[in-house]
This record gives sequence, C-alpha cells and structure tokens, in this order.
Amino acid sequence: MTQNNYLVIGSGIAGLTFALKIADRFPDRSVTIVTKSNADESNTKYAQGGIAVVIDKVADNFRKHIEDTLICGDGLCDQKVVEMVVTDGPKRLQELINWGAKFDLNEQGNLDLGREGGHSTNRVVHHKDQTGYEIERAILAKVYKTKNIQILDYHFAFELITKNNRCFGAYALNEKTNEIIPLLSDYTLLATGGIGQVYGHTTNPAIATGDGIAMAKRANAKITDMEFIQFHPTALYDENLSSTFLISEAVRGFGGILRTKDGIPFMSDYDPRGDLASRDIVSQSIENELKKSGDDCVYLDCTHLEINAFIKHFPMIYNRCKEAGIDIEKDWIPVVPAQHYLCGGISVDTNGQTSITNLFACGECSRTGLHGANRLASNSLLEAIVYSDRIYKYLEKVSTTYSSTTYFPGKKKNNDKKLDQFYLSNIKNELQNTMRKNAGITRNDLDLEKTKNKLEMWRLELLKLENRILVTKEFYELKNMITVSLLIVMQSMARKENRGGFIKSEILETSYSHQTP
Ligand code: FAD
Ligand code: SIN
Repeated sequence: MTQNNYLVIGSGIAGLTFALKIADRFPDRSVTIVTKSNADESNTKYAQGGIAVVIDKVADNFRKHIEDTLICGDGLCDQKVVEMVVTDGPKRLQELINWGAKFDLNEQGNLDLGREGGHSTNRVVHHKDQTGYEIERAILAKVYKTKNIQILDYHFAFELITKNNRCFGAYALNEKTNEIIPLLSDYTLLATGGIGQVYGHTTNPAIATGDGIAMAKRANAKITDMEFIQFHPTALYDENLSSTFLISEAVRGFGGILRTKDGIPFMSDYDPRGDLASRDIVSQSIENELKKSGDDCVYLDCTHLEINAFIKHFPMIYNRCKEAGIDIEKDWIPVVPAQHYLCGGISVDTNGQTSITNLFACGECSRTGLHGANRLASNSLLEAIVYSDRIYKYLEKVSTTYSSTTYFPGKKKNNDKKLDQFYLSNIKNELQNTMRKNAGITRNDLDLEKTKNKLEMWRLELLKLENRILVTKEFYELKNMITVSLLIVMQSMARKENRGGFIKSEILETSYSHQTP
C-alpha cells in the first residue's frame, strides 16, 4: 500500500504540469503519477497545430480570442471561464518555455503564429507540426529530474477509493503482474485524457478509452456535455477506418483548400469563413458533401503552396503523406472527418474541483465550460495549462493543512480464471462500429435508443464476470468504454436542440443554429 500526498492519474500535459508545480512547491511531500503505458504516451504527444495564445499585441487582443471561443462554442460556453483561460494564457505559455519547450520563431525572432479554423487572426504557437511531442518531451524530462515525484508506468488506475463523497485515492492494476495496488492519497487528480477509442476511427492513440470519466461516473461524480464530441474534418483517409493520422487544421490556415473529387471548393457555400470555418461546421459540411456525392472522402489541395515553406512548417505531415504515396506538391490529400476530442467530461469548478471532495480533474477528461458545444482549435492544450495551474494554486492554499485521515477499504485480489481473448475484442469491435454508425456527426433518437439497449446488455455481462475472472487492462478499458458510450448516448438523447458539434436529424428541420461571426 502506498500513501501519497498527491496522486496524479495520467501523464499528459495536464497531469505533468500539475505534478511539477505541486512537487516544486512542497519538496517534502510525495507526488505519485500513475500512467497506463509509456510515460509519454498520451493525446498530448500527438498534438500538431499548437497552443492558442494572444501574443501579437498589434493584430490580436484578448477580446478577439474570447469572442472566437464563444462563437465556436455556439452559445454554450461559460463566459467567465473563457475570459479566465484566455487572459491567463500568455503566463502559462511562458512557463512551458521556461521548462524548456521550444516553439518556432519567425524571421524577426518572435514566436511564429499559425492560424486554424474559427480563429479571426494568427495566434497559434507551435513547434512545426509536432507541438505536443515537444511539450511532452520537455515537461517529462523535468518531471524525471524532480526527486519527490515517482512515476508508475504501465499501471492502470481502475477504481477510485471513495467514502461519503470524498476521495482517498485509487486502485491500480500493475499491468505486468496483474496485481492490484491501492494508492491512497490526500488529493487525487484525474488527468486521463480523451475517449477516441470509443469510436475506433479517431485521431487519438490507443490509450484514449475514457477511463477517468468512467471511474468518476462510477463514484457518482457529475459528468456533463458528453454529447459534444468533436470530429476533426481532416483525418487522412484510410479505407479501413482504423486509428488514423491527422492532417492539422493549420494546413488550411496555411492556405490548403478543401475540394470535392471533381475539384470543386465547397466550404464557402456553407460559411463565410470558408475553409477556416470552425471545426463543427467543416466536418458537418464534409459529411453533407459525401452524402450528396456518395464518395468516400474529400480532398485537401496544397499543390499551390510554396513547397519548401510547407515542409518547414509541416515536416511530419509531408513525410507521412509521402509514405502513403501522396506527393503534396502534385496530389490532393484524401481526407475524412474522424473523432478527435471530447468537449464535455467530469464537471469541475474554476479550481478544477469535481463534485467529489478532494478529487480534481484537468485536461480533456474535464468539463470546465471553456468549450461549450464545440472547442476552438488549439484551446485544449491552453485549457490544460491554465487549469493545472488553478488546481495547483488552490491546493497550495488548502493543502497546507491536509488531513492524514485515510479511509482504506482493504486490499483487493485478482482472480486466476482467464477470459477467452476474443470475447473482449469482439464486443469492442461491435461497440466501435455501433458508436460510429449511431452516435457520429449526425444522430437520431431511434438509433440512440437501440445503442443504449445494446450497451446496457454488455454492461451487465461484464458486471457478472468482474469478480470471477482475471481482470486485465483490456477488461477495464472495455468496461470504461461501455460506461462512456452510455453517457454519450444518454446525454445525446436528453439534448433537445442542435448546437455546435451536436446534430440530431429529427431536430435539423425545425431548428438549426450555428453562430458565425
Ligand atoms: P492526455 O495527453 O491524453 O494524457 C492522458 C494520460 O492519462 C496518458 O498518459 C494516459 O496513458 C493516462 N491514462 C489514461 N487512462 C489511464 C488509467 N486508467 N490509468 C493510468 N493512466 C491513464 N489540442 C490543442 O490544443 N492543440 C493541438 O494542436 C492539438 N492537436 C491534436 C492532435 C491530435 C492528433 C490529437 C489526438 C489531439 C490534439 N489536440 C490538440 C488535443 C490535445 O492534444 C489533448 O486534448 C490534450 O493533449 C489532452 O491532454 P491531457 O493531459 O488531458 O490528456
Ligand atoms: C490540429 O492541428 O488540427 C489539431 C488542433 C486541435 O485539436 O486543437
């Protein structure tokens, strides 16, 4: 049994930046980070476009960034949260720079600012097209040098330890031995990232199975806005629709143009911002074009762009396309929308506190009110650094008097009986197919109801098995994906109006509001 002052579940930008700050402030206290794969494996590592921050004092200002965020969120953002996050951005970015993260500079030696959909000006700070990789590298290196932080990699947190609505840590599974370890702590932070694997066709890596949200749900935490799934318009088309490679929106910010197979640019038919409309609108427009034409994908045309400048900004995209036989100088890139981000999640206040005492949530697993019905591009990394700082500052004050009262419900033992490996993978495949078909860009109540019944059946099947078999990471991931899918489906059924990234076809005819500038 380990007793920690601070337990951090997840080692992406949210978890690591919090851990660094609290460990530095209280060198005599222990911080444990549990993470279910390699320490650097996370959505963070794959972030391409960058971080949206107001840097350019001439062309930009906080008001513009706030307005862009509000328009993108289609009326459902919490304005106070938007103002807080946007105005705190420059300070938090400077901290990343101080920790060693390198961002591209322009010819004048200032931060180079890219552009993405929904932004009224260039404001995206980036490291080529590998911004997340660079941030993760820098902060993880710093974490490894911090003596009072221990990282338990390949440890899968699967259940929060709670009593009377207060959190005392979590149980984790050592993935190498399948041993169950209780990790007790005074304060617990969920920083477990996104849910992309629920859809299978996603820009997210394999770790994105919504574990933190599912754990929090089982502990009765408040979970909201789960219907607002963000589909990125431009994932590289792959006919198998497996996990897929992202073509950054910054490519359209650089001048890329979306075209149908016949070469017709279509985005200005849908929105005055054309190819740089917000992500929800571009994805919905592509879906509409594909329905009209019966084609499998649309195309991103970059053939008119200056190739050396393109390669300098987007070396990874250039090379990945080349491997797929696409020469960006001559060929259009085939693209389709894919699940990308979850705007909702575990409800938190402005200090990152969930509805459970001493349980905090940060990053993509949390719902702060910043994104509303659709997140503005490059506002996710920003939200994570601002909120990890908010949580740190709050705990800096309150945790000086932390209580050592600990509740420990007892050790748990795993069983020996192995489950047929195909049993879990078959359900997982069917779950992903069903969610893609019935809870995608456009949904309807009839299909959602059928999906809910299927999910409920799987939930009960796994519940019966849980105490009788050798539970593994794969078992818990599937259990969590079922919980998260149920939340998406039920909250979609409960929403009676179309907003941002959420459309139900039966509502489409009567009301369809999309805020545009
Ligand atoms: P993550 O970075 O996903 O980290 C979650 C961590 O939790 C991981 O370490 C994971 O292994 C661990 N974990 C999960 N479950 C468990 C468990 N049960 N037990 C133990 N550990 C667990 N956003 C932007 O703002 N700008 C961009 O340019 C951008 N580009 C993107 C490009 C891609 C391809 C993707 C996928 C996302 C992009 N995003 C971007 C979104 C952004 O990267 C993520 O929302 C953000 O990085 C999430 O950070 P996080 O720390 O909350 O979660
Ligand atoms: C991208 O580079 O297109 C992703 C940016 C984001 O998700 O904010």
